Amino acid sequence: MTHERQHRGLTAANLTNTSYDMEPLKSGNKIPTEQFLPASDAKKLQKKRVSFRAIVAIGLPTALAIIALVTGLLVWHFHYRYNGRVRKMFSGYLTISSQTFSDAYENSNTAEYKELASKVSRQLKGIYGQVRLLSKYHVASSVQGFSEGSNNGIIAYYLSEFNVPESQVSAVDEAMASMDGGENARKSRRGFGRRTDNSLIIDGMTSGAVDARLAGRNLKRSSKRSHHAHGNQTDIIRSPGFPDSAYLPNLYTEWQIRADPEHRIRLEFDVLDLEKDCRNDFIKVYDSLAPSEKQVIAEKCGYRLPDEKICGEKPPKTVYTIKSNQTTVRFHSDLSYVSEGFSAEFEAFEPTNPCPGRFQCDNDLCVSPNLECDGYNDCGDMSDERGCTCNETQIKCKNGFCKPSFWRCDGVNDCGDNTDEENCGNCKAQEFRCRNSRCIPAHKQCNGYNDCGDGSDESQCEKSIAVHCSDLTYKCKNNQCISKLNPMCDGEIDCADGSDEAECKCGTKPYKSSRIVGGKDSSEGEWPWQVSLHMNTQGHVCGASVISNRWLVTAAHCVQDSEKFKYSQPDQWEVYLGLLNQGETSKSTLKRVKRIISHPQYDHLSDDNDIALMELDSPVTLSQNIWPVCLPEATHDFPAGKSVWITGWGKQREEVDAIASVLQKAEVRIINNTVCNKLMDDGITPRMICAGVLSGGVDACQGDSGGPMTSTESSGRMFLAGVVSWGDGCGRRNRPGVYTRVTEYRSWIREMTGV
Ligand code: ARG
Repeated sequence: MTHERQHRGLTAANLTNTSYDMEPLKSGNKIPTEQFLPASDAKKLQKKRVSFRAIVAIGLPTALAIIALVTGLLVWHFHYRYNGRVRKMFSGYLTISSQTFSDAYENSNTAEYKELASKVSRQLKGIYGQVRLLSKYHVASSVQGFSEGSNNGIIAYYLSEFNVPESQVSAVDEAMASMDGGENARKSRRGFGRRTDNSLIIDGMTSGAVDARLAGRNLKRSSKRSHHAHGNQTDIIRSPGFPDSAYLPNLYTEWQIRADPEHRIRLEFDVLDLEKDCRNDFIKVYDSLAPSEKQVIAEKCGYRLPDEKICGEKPPKTVYTIKSNQTTVRFHSDLSYVSEGFSAEFEAFEPTNPCPGRFQCDNDLCVSPNLECDGYNDCGDMSDERGCTCNETQIKCKNGFCKPSFWRCDGVNDCGDNTDEENCGNCKAQEFRCRNSRCIPAHKQCNGYNDCGDGSDESQCEKSIAVHCSDLTYKCKNNQCISKLNPMCDGEIDCADGSDEAECKCGTKPYKSSRIVGGKDSSEGEWPWQVSLHMNTQGHVCGASVISNRWLVTAAHCVQDSEKFKYSQPDQWEVYLGLLNQGETSKSTLKRVKRIISHPQYDHLSDDNDIALMELDSPVTLSQNIWPVCLPEATHDFPAGKSVWITGWGKQREEVDAIASVLQKAEVRIINNTVCNKLMDDGITPRMICAGVLSGGVDACQGDSGGPMTSTESSGRMFLAGVVSWGDGCGRRNRPGVYTRVTEYRSWIREMTGV
């Protein structure tokens, strides 16, 4: 029996732009991980209603969902860990086939509900009783609700509490996990599916640990509200007190929403104003009547308030002449300030069209219709890019895909079959294209002769050869030039004098542990060259990179005076090294600045030469958390398509003001300069290098400036490929981030710092 399919409709959260839609997946699918993509194209930014919409898709036969709002930080160590014991909560559901469902089971005050609930609790106790480890630590189990299962059976949702010595936690987790799984095994071993005296016939049981943030709260004493969603009737749920007062701290509130068989629930948050990070305050939506981690649909925190723009209609006449010297201008506001909390609407509907007004992917995600055939894999399974007719701004790949024409000849195989990279140079099929654009017969590659003239045909071979020096070859200390590409600090001696491996105390992460838009938290010591530059009263303003125990590289635009602040003055700055969390500066090393050298040709209009050097007032002790990044030689090649890392405490979304507290990291790809120049309205000079994810969502942002874009080279060392410089918004589609191309400044840096 496929009891899982019967009542579980899983929902994927696909968050794009300012409207947050959760679109249904077929029953039984896994929940894909959420993608957070910030606003990308202007069209969508103009959407009036900023909402967080959840279409909760539930399979047969009853739709249901719970929404849990949790606030404040309870004294959770107190509840959660005491006397070396850990309070573990598991949540799950089991299917009872020996009883038939009736409406009475929806109401926890009925005698039927109470009777069945206590039977289920007793039976759970019995089930755990058969496993010694579980019976020893089981405290209590309680039913959270019932719903209609397949063949008119009943599904019971429960919470089970265990009080486990710390040393036994993983054993208990395992024991609980083994309660799930193959039903047959369970049936025979644990008496499932058989009636013993007057117990229930249980066909299957699934459970999982409750979210650790919830586990510390007394879920049983929480307030619970039940709702029934109806078709063509919109109901509202609100956080307690909303909109007049903020929700109280230390609160756990649960809303259970059910709908009739064959229905889905649409849940739309008009106002959502919780704390910024989800550590304390958050909302979680489950496709279940108990907070089962296996059935999470979405988790939200932060705020999505309706747009506060001043808008209206522009009258045909905008110049008014008044005779008197007095006038009254009346502004009308159709919004008022509301307290923290949320308000959401829900209704049930019968899903005739699961993607109203949107494109339905083969994997049942719904995406905006204008993403169809745009060259990007928006569905994740390519279904939005199949069977397309390419328009005039696209190239047609041989395999049928359409791709933006600006991707032609950018050195990246975007079509997948290389169509977009064919006939780019004048090299023929059997030819090798040299870095200097010459074509040579392919078999001349790695033959020990410099056929290209720039050594590039010999640059990725087992052996490096001595070649004529050019702009594209590496020069050893003894002035000999070698053909190998990026030979510096690659772990092999290539120069006869060994100079390519002589100064390599850089780019490694001594700490082997383990803002940026679309990034993830970094761990301690992961980016030991990352520096946070604080301007005296302002806190963090820019990033920088350690290149030696005395010198930092940052962006020139970070050190230009403004009306209010003297950014060019060394004594205005505080340098935090070895910092991970902006809230824990005391744990890091603080230095002051002796000297700032901004690039003399920095142009604030074009942001050309956006690089500066900072000398520390005293050398910093290098350590696991403070370590220099490698500087690439002028001839170092960072090819288009290569993946690189950006790090910083900058904003995590274009539209917020706050910076990140934990250092963020994100992976982006180098984009060819010609392509980038087209994307960035001709703003790219040869001294810039672009990187990003062209479909949007991953980028550097305000506050990341001056920080590193690093590339891991063959030796595993990290090289400073770029310095965060500028961009158009953050994370917008087809608007990559622009970085200062560090290779262009290798000799300037050496000259200024000796590094
Ligand atoms: N100029 C910005 C700063 O001062 C950095 C902008 C980077 N923007 C981007 N979209 N890559 O922090």
